[in-house]
Amino acid sequence: VVDDASAPPRLSFAEIPRMLDGNHHVAAGYNAEVLLSWGDPVLPGGRAFDAAAQTAAAQSRQFGYNNDFLAYFPLPAGKRSGSEEDQHGLLCVNHEYTNAYLMFPGYSNWRDSAAGINREQVDIEMAAHGHSVIEVRKQNGHWSFVENSRFNRRITMDTPMRMSGPAAGHQRLRTSADPGGTRVLGTMGNCAGGVTPWGTVLIAEENFRYNFGGHPEELAESHPREVRNYARFRFGNHERRQWYRFHERFHIANEAHEANRFGWMVEFDPYDPQSEPVKHTALGRCQHEGCSVVAEEGRPLVAYTGDDGINEYIYKFVSNGTYRKDKGKRNSALFDDGILYAARFNDDGTGRWLPLIFGQGPLTPENGFNDQGDVLIDCRIAADLLGATPMDRPEDIDTNPLTGRTYVMLTKNTVRERTDAVNPRQKNAWGQVVEILAPGADGQRDHAALEFGWDIFILAGDPGKDSTARGQYGAGTSDDGWFCNPDNIAFDPFGRIWMATDSSNQCGFHDGLWAAQTAGPERALSRHFFGCPRGAELCGPCFTPDGKTLFVAIQHPADEKGSTYLNPSTRWPDFNDSVPPRPSVVAITRADGKVIGS
Ligand code: FEO
Ligand code: CA
Ligand code: CA
Ligand code: CA
Repeated sequence: VVDDASAPPRLSFAEIPRMLDGNHHVAAGYNAEVLLSWGDPVLPGGRAFDAAAQTAAAQSRQFGYNNDFLAYFPLPAGKRSGSEEDQHGLLCVNHEYTNAYLMFPGYSNWRDSAAGINREQVDIEMAAHGHSVIEVRKQNGHWSFVENSRFNRRITMDTPMRMSGPAAGHQRLRTSADPGGTRVLGTMGNCAGGVTPWGTVLIAEENFRYNFGGHPEELAESHPREVRNYARFRFGNHERRQWYRFHERFHIANEAHEANRFGWMVEFDPYDPQSEPVKHTALGRCQHEGCSVVAEEGRPLVAYTGDDGINEYIYKFVSNGTYRKDKGKRNSALFDDGILYAARFNDDGTGRWLPLIFGQGPLTPENGFNDQGDVLIDCRIAADLLGATPMDRPEDIDTNPLTGRTYVMLTKNTVRERTDAVNPRQKNAWGQVVEILAPGADGQRDHAALEFGWDIFILAGDPGKDSTARGQYGAGTSDDGWFCNPDNIAFDPFGRIWMATDSSNQCGFHDGLWAAQTAGPERALSRHFFGCPRGAELCGPCFTPDGKTLFVAIQHPADEKGSTYLNPSTRWPDFNDSVPPRPSVVAITRADGKVIGS
């Protein structure tokens, strides 16, 4: 219970109705303006977007596709007070994946584009992946980006990066281009992420398997060790991207270890455009969705991360060393040395973190683990053996900076074999938001502890339904306040939770953003703030430090059945017949300039 003096302001905005149309919608009294769109030139020499004449060279100097995670870093660097930091900063943006049939003419769906895609289009896709760092500024109440800022950066499939931690240099990370197993080109599937207090960003590598070709069985003779590994990631699905047809490293039969160099958490310094991204292997290899870093003076560094796959696990990394603010960026080395745990949820509301340590319990050569590198490369298989709890697809995870309670978005799972208290629905089409409670009172929790408590914060779906479909929310949630398929999360500076969705169209309405208190009488009373254009999901909600700007990433507008480049279901945000729908970042402010939400 939060006492009145420290209680966050009430959420007083007027809710928007749920609907499904071609435009975005925000609560009355707010402005939602498009800030950055796919194809906007962001580096010197960048060419104005021309969808019909797009090239890989142009794309590599333009804003990428399918914006996902957003992080805001104030300028000037290190400034933490005053108002300037809220008007000027760097926006870090993940570009998760590409939709060829909405980017190029002539394809009607995934399968069609996979069959017909050419080399230039593949290279455009590779240049549209990764990440953008963009200088942004608010002037006269409106945000814009600085076109040729010295900070602006594109990270793509060509960007060199380094492996670090226990698996760096491992035999199973070595390739013909990198016999040392420590140097990688590019990052992919960058979904959500996290930030560190020393001014770096963490970007998660999620669905890397869609960017590789080949079937695990092709490795049975040459690399038998990798058959189980790639089968566990369900490789062998060639429908999505066809990079392997033009670039050998993306075919597992040609380069058996390349796909072991993806699926990691990647850290880099957005303030230094020359900084080399680092893949931290100690955090394990899976379909990382996001990362929530808890850094407290003199204590181990903790990073929570979820693996977004059906019946996959929630993980936590705890460093062996301790965080010291005065060490600044040198704290990054804490990610190289520590213990990775997988979560087991008990039905009585308790839970335990199970350590993934080579040689302990079942993690031995008899079960195919010869060292800690193997445990990290195959951390899903290690967690299977330890008896971690299979979850209903762990999407984003984030820790409320005010209370230290950690929230994980479980988006859905319709093929669960056995229900349990934390995943209580067998055909769960709607998802749930779970609260993880490290031991201790609010504000003084021990995130390094082996035990935890948990609670279901929200069971998503319609609270009016009279069946397992029924959702559960805080008392007073309106008919517009319930949602389906939670995915991304942000906390505002007052500790209020903002929950974004992906796939609500299966419930008959747009994806969008809902806000709630996490404590007090209005705990889990969910309110509808923003709605996406049809086909889009809402990613990356992110506040400026003053809580007066909320950035959101509108991902894959018009991505729905029957929608194509030539005939999309919406041409958001340009609404110009010669411009395809464009994933875009939107800046939301209040017309009266006050704090968002209250
Ligand atoms: Fe990229 Fe799990 O969403
Ligand atoms: Ca997504
Ligand atoms: Ca997601
Ligand atoms: Ca999702």
